[in-house]
Amino acid sequence: MPEPSESKLRVLIPRDKIHARIQEMGEQIHKDYPEGPIYMIGILKGSWIFLADLVRAIPRHVRVEFIGISSYGRGKTSSGEVRLTKDIDVSLEGMDIIVVEDIVDTGVTLTYLIHLLEQRKPRSIKVATLLDKPSRRLRPIQATYCGFTVPDEFVVGYGLDFAEDYRNLPEICVVE
Ligand code: PRP
Repeated sequence: MPEPSESKLRVLIPRDKIHARIQEMGEQIHKDYPEGPIYMIGILKGSWIFLADLVRAIPRHVRVEFIGISSYGRGKTSSGEVRLTKDIDVSLEGMDIIVVEDIVDTGVTLTYLIHLLEQRKPRSIKVATLLDKPSRRLRPIQATYCGFTVPDEFVVGYGLDFAEDYRNLPEICVVE
């Protein structure tokens, strides 16, 4: 699947490692929440493939919602500006929430979203991310459940895109 512009891809995390890690994350989440449903809130669009696998690795009731966030001015280095583009239409009051991300980079998106969700009075909010790129962090935010820490390289696949392509790659690759 070459394009865009014949980019070269190097596999960083193969699919069997991803699947094994997501299974572990699901089991950990199941252990950490003794009873009741968990609301898994996926951030569009990048989280959808990870979310689909993660919920199937959690052997209990989960409910799935999606929220849309748009970033402006987030060049390679700027902190950007974030706004809500699609809200969820259920009450989260008293609920346990896990926000599901494909990657935490600067932390700007999650910081904004957690602040927003806290105003809806959930019982708890945690974050599950497939990838973490801590070297780029601009906000002091940490995911409770993290699949893999990645270096400061441009990664695609498993939901992550390059100009909207490569989201369907079954492994995490670096664009070289
Ligand atoms: C990506 C990713 C996270 C966010 C992380 O989304 O899915 O939501 O950036 O970056 P941050 O920690 O620097 O805020 P993107 O804006 O690329 O949209 P997408 O999910 O639709 O690809």
